Amino acid sequence: MNIILLGPPGAGKGTQAQRLVDAHAMRQLSTGDMLRAAVRAGTPTGLEAKAVMERGELVSDAIVSSLIGEELDSMGADTGAIFDGYPRTAEQARSLDSILDARGRTLDHVIELEVNEDALVDRICGRYTCASCGKGYHDKFELPQVPGVCDKCGSTEFKRRPDDNEETVRTRMAEYRAKTAPILPIYETRGIVSRVNGMEEIDHVSAAIEAILKG
Ligand code: AP5
Ligand code: MG
Repeated sequence: MNIILLGPPGAGKGTQAQRLVDAHAMRQLSTGDMLRAAVRAGTPTGLEAKAVMERGELVSDAIVSSLIGEELDSMGADTGAIFDGYPRTAEQARSLDSILDARGRTLDHVIELEVNEDALVDRICGRYTCASCGKGYHDKFELPQVPGVCDKCGSTEFKRRPDDNEETVRTRMAEYRAKTAPILPIYETRGIVSRVNGMEEIDHVSAAIEAILKG
């Protein structure tokens, strides 16, 4: 199964992708995570992406599509893919079609997380992750069971993203409205779009996604 999780910054794409990975042994392909890894490693891609990401603008289509192709090539043919934060432009949507086609994969679902943008700044500015395994948490909505200790790997080190400040978040949302939301009709015509209320509790959102996947 190959699915796209679509929604503005803070909609819960990463949170829900992690749950799908745990439940179905699928692979999360997050271009944001791949770009952040490139920035940390100081690769040419990372050097090019760093300032763009800090402004909240979009990195070039060619860079992100090539990252996605490489990641798919590193996966077993039977492993399902969850596209998280990709595609984000009409050009990327076209590239994804060719990338999947070349690998004998088809897109099964595009799941749009519908959210109230005003609530998202709060969500994003309270978010942090385990520095060791990457599990996501939130100051108000998703705390570790033992304070200061990661539920998944036991690490006590956590980190926050440099682009998680209000000004950058507003730019990221504007980019979403201008460039990403307009790609939905491409998938509507194929009859593969489903919508989920992303304002519900995390478990309820997961249950709604599971119902879509079961058909
Ligand atoms: P990216 O990393 O993809 O960021 P984003 O799209 O802005 O989305 P986020 O990761 O901020 O939000 P999310 O939907 O994953 O929410 P999360 O689950 O964490 O991209 C970053 C940058 O990289 C871009 O700005 C761009 O520069 C570049 N980039 C990446 N991909 C690109 C591409 N394809 N093309 C060009 N450039 C690209 O949830 C947020 C918080 O809310 C968490 O703390 C979570 O615990 C909490 N939460 C989640 N769900 C709920 C719920 N239902 N109720 C309450 N709290 C919840
Ligand atoms: Mg994310």
